[in-house]
Amino acid sequence: MRATVFPGGSVGGDVRVPGDKSIAHRWLILAATARGGSEISGLPAALDVRSTARVLAGISPLGAAAVLEAWAANPPAPGEGDRSTSNRGQPRGPAVALEGEGRDGLRPPTADLDCGNSGTTMRLVAGVLASCAFGSRLVGDESLSARPMERVATPLREMGAVIETTDGHPPVQVRGGSLRGVRHVATVPSAQVKSAVLLAGLGAHGETSVEEPVRTRDHTERALAHLGAPVLIEDRRVTVEPFQHPGFRAAVPGDVSSAAFLLAAAALSGRALSVHDVGANPSRTHLLRVLERMGVRTRVEVSRHELGEPVGVLEMAGCDGLTGTEVGAAELPLLIDEVPVLAMLAAHASGPTRFLGAAELRVKESDRLGGVAAAIGRLGGSAEVDGDDLVVGGGGLSGGAASAGGDHRMAMALAVAALGASGPVEIDGIEAADVSFPGFVRTLSALGARIEQ
Ligand code: S3P
Repeated sequence: MRATVFPGGSVGGDVRVPGDKSIAHRWLILAATARGGSEISGLPAALDVRSTARVLAGISPLGAAAVLEAWAANPPAPGEGDRSTSNRGQPRGPAVALEGEGRDGLRPPTADLDCGNSGTTMRLVAGVLASCAFGSRLVGDESLSARPMERVATPLREMGAVIETTDGHPPVQVRGGSLRGVRHVATVPSAQVKSAVLLAGLGAHGETSVEEPVRTRDHTERALAHLGAPVLIEDRRVTVEPFQHPGFRAAVPGDVSSAAFLLAAAALSGRALSVHDVGANPSRTHLLRVLERMGVRTRVEVSRHELGEPVGVLEMAGCDGLTGTEVGAAELPLLIDEVPVLAMLAAHASGPTRFLGAAELRVKESDRLGGVAAAIGRLGGSAEVDGDDLVVGGGGLSGGAASAGGDHRMAMALAVAALGASGPVEIDGIEAADVSFPGFVRTLSALGARIEQ
């Protein structure tokens, strides 16, 4: 599907965004493996989260499986069952209630577990399956089938699971069983790897720890600590002991990574934007620090917590032009999903911007390092890959046509880039946005963008 974004639109105001994808994956996994009932509201109808629900349905006890399957097949449309908001944007769906029978209650799947486009689904579920005494096979779409899986297979093997990848990629076969705790020193900063090992560690004998080269998002350890698990968080190391968690009730906050696209669009329009009911976890809001350095004032006000996650309002003031900056290698894992949209902002800034040590972007849903540089070039800007760095020239974009390449964040970044461009931007494959932000085009239009589909 094609979308054309025309210059002249101006984005700003008040908005809510769909629930956080990272958090939703984890809470669904925790609900399916809990002993007792759970109720999760605010789950986004994002395709990736539906993949997690479907995969969990394949291994859950029958009652929970039916609930998960029904939700994955037909998540309630925005507005159904939720009248709790008066803010513009997307209301969230009603709660999903399911009864877990603990990790021991999981059952062998009768078919391949299809993770779709979702690396988080595959890697985190592999961690759960590692301690289950049955075999299963995890498969994914073309993009996921090209992504590295040894990073998660290696520590799970060390713990005692039998894992086979296909030349390091999906499909991944897992035969789980009795696990022993390990001390894993991760060589790549990845919250997915950390989470997989921690989830496996809950069902292992002895202590399991993961040390990261750089800190990454901490949703898994926050939720576990909140559920009473013996979790120790020290600087770059997280340690967990065997634990069976109970059920819980929580509302998924809005996804700050989805909000990032709207914030960037407003920054290019020079207007103020408030995002309500959004996750404010510091391991996810680092993009605000970078926006500040580029000349945008922001403010976060936390109003409540959900399963250990701070939730509140994120306000961005109107700004008058953007300045280029440097994003260091230690910062990168804290805004890894925001690089495509920050790079588009950088293309409109005065002066160059450098993203240092961005190699991990090569193994996302597409090669975002090369993809972002090429897209900026196609829209009349200048950007290049210098070793593992991305260097964006600044100075503005003229518009043109570019493809999302099946990557949700590339699709949305291209739409945002158009807001500051002097001519229209035609995006091929805009529907990819549904992977994380269903209703993206509708929301951006409601905030003032001029988009034709
Ligand atoms: C995620 C972690 C990140 C991120 C992805 C979601 C998560 O991936 O890019 O979109 O939910 O844990 P890596 O762990 O591979 O960096």
